[in-house]
Parts: sequence; structure tokens; C-alpha cells
Amino acid sequence: MAEEKAKRFTEDSHDVSAVAYLANYGAHRVGISKDESCDYYTRWAKSGGYEKDLAIGRYNGPVFAAQAVAEFFPRGRNLVRILDVAAGTGFVGEQLKQLDFTNVDALEPSEGMVAVARKKNVYKNVYLDFLNGTKLTIPDGSYDCCVIAGGMGEGHIPCSGLRELIRITKQGGLVCIVMREEYLQYVEEYKDRLEPLLQKWEADGLWKLVSREIVKKYSFDNNGVVFKYSVC
Ligand SMILES: C[S@@+](CC[C@H](N)C(=O)[O-])C[C@H]1O[C@@H](n2cnc3c(N)ncnc32)[C@H](O)[C@@H]1O
Repeated sequence: MAEEKAKRFTEDSHDVSAVAYLANYGAHRVGISKDESCDYYTRWAKSGGYEKDLAIGRYNGPVFAAQAVAEFFPRGRNLVRILDVAAGTGFVGEQLKQLDFTNVDALEPSEGMVAVARKKNVYKNVYLDFLNGTKLTIPDGSYDCCVIAGGMGEGHIPCSGLRELIRITKQGGLVCIVMREEYLQYVEEYKDRLEPLLQKWEADGLWKLVSREIVKKYSFDNNGVVFKYSVC
């Protein structure tokens, strides 16, 4: 379905958005491995293409993510310790900075994406790593907030990776996941698994749902979904 949709989109439109849509699909093609996707992002970032193709307007995930975090932390934002997971070139960090969040770290596996992000000076610490189900070097309860925008998708963060965010977030802190809504249905890793798992963790008393919101024009014309969970 993802492949058909990318093809349809590029046949129907002839502007720069079509080129950008196809470039984005390259990082999410069905069957892509995590290493292939990571290398793709590095090449995309080094060419300067990522920031042009997924500029705000075409891809609004970073704006939705920062707004969601800001709603949860209305005051004392300079003290809120945040981990931007799958931080890419730092779009979320930039949006957070505009909303007065200045205590932000990044986790990102692609060295090309990280190289761009570092230049922006929006992150204190940068972890060059995957979130993939193995234990991170970050101690328990380190962050007030973990946020992901755009890090979910084919060959991206697996369901098992999210459990680690509960471990490294403080009690009462926020885990915010912003992703394309349709991935819940057609990414094999997430279909009939991701939401049931998030709900199971709530039933197990690990976290509590704050809100689940559908947003329009998350990326291109696709809806996004913004999950906010408060860690117990
Ligand atoms: C569409 S980009 C989003 C980047 C950034 N958050 C933004 O909103 O611009 C997806 C990012 O997820 C990263 N990524 C993919 N798989 C990952 C994983 N398992 N753990 C952490 N990051 C991952 C990629 O390297 C890439 O930088």
C-alpha cells in the first residue's frame, strides 16, 4: 500500500512535493532494514535534501510534537529535561527552543543527520544510537519527557523500542509519540500490535494515557496521530 501510494502521489503531481514525497518514501520503503534506512538518512542529510524536502509546511511533525510537549509543561520550561528521540537534523529541537525548552538531548542513529543537528546548538548531549529494544546507556528516570516525531515507520523504531522510554522517563513525566496515522494500519511491525501494546502498558500500570489526537497535514496531506502518555 505504501509503495502504491507513493507511486500515485508522484504520478498525480508534478511539483517539488512529488520529488520530496518520493525521497521520503526511499527511507520508508517496504522491507527496508534499519541499517539501510540509517544510511539513506545520512546520504539525504549530507546532500542537503532532507531539510528542503521535509521543511515545515510539507512535514509538520516537529511543530505538533513541540506543541504537545508545551501543553504538558506550561511553566519552568528551561528546567524540563527532554530527550528528542530519532532527532534527525534537529527540527524538533529547534521548535522546542522557540517554546523556551533549553534542556534538550538528542538520540539519533544516523551520523549524517546528527552532523546537521549538532551545528544548530539546540542539544546539550547527543547519543548516536538506535532505539530498538536493547538497553540504552541512559540511567532510569533521567528525563522529564521523551518525544518522538517522525521516528516511527517501516524499518524505523520497533514496538519493543518504546518500552525503554518508560524506563528512562521520570514518574509523572511525559512520553509523546507523533507519527503518521496510517502507519498504524499498514506498517507490518505496528499493525494490530502497536496500539494494543501501548494499551497493555497502561493496563500494567506503567503509564497512563493523557491524550490521543488526530492532526491534519502531519506530513504532505497525511494525518498524524499524537500520543501523550504520563509515566507512572
Ligand atoms: C523522518 S526522520 C525525523 C527526524 C526528526 N525527528 C524530525 O522530525 O525532523 C526519522 C528519523 O528517525 C531515525 N530513526 C530511524 N530508526 C530509528 C531507531 N530505531 N531509533 C532512533 N532513531 C531512528 C532516522 O535516522 C531519522 O533521522
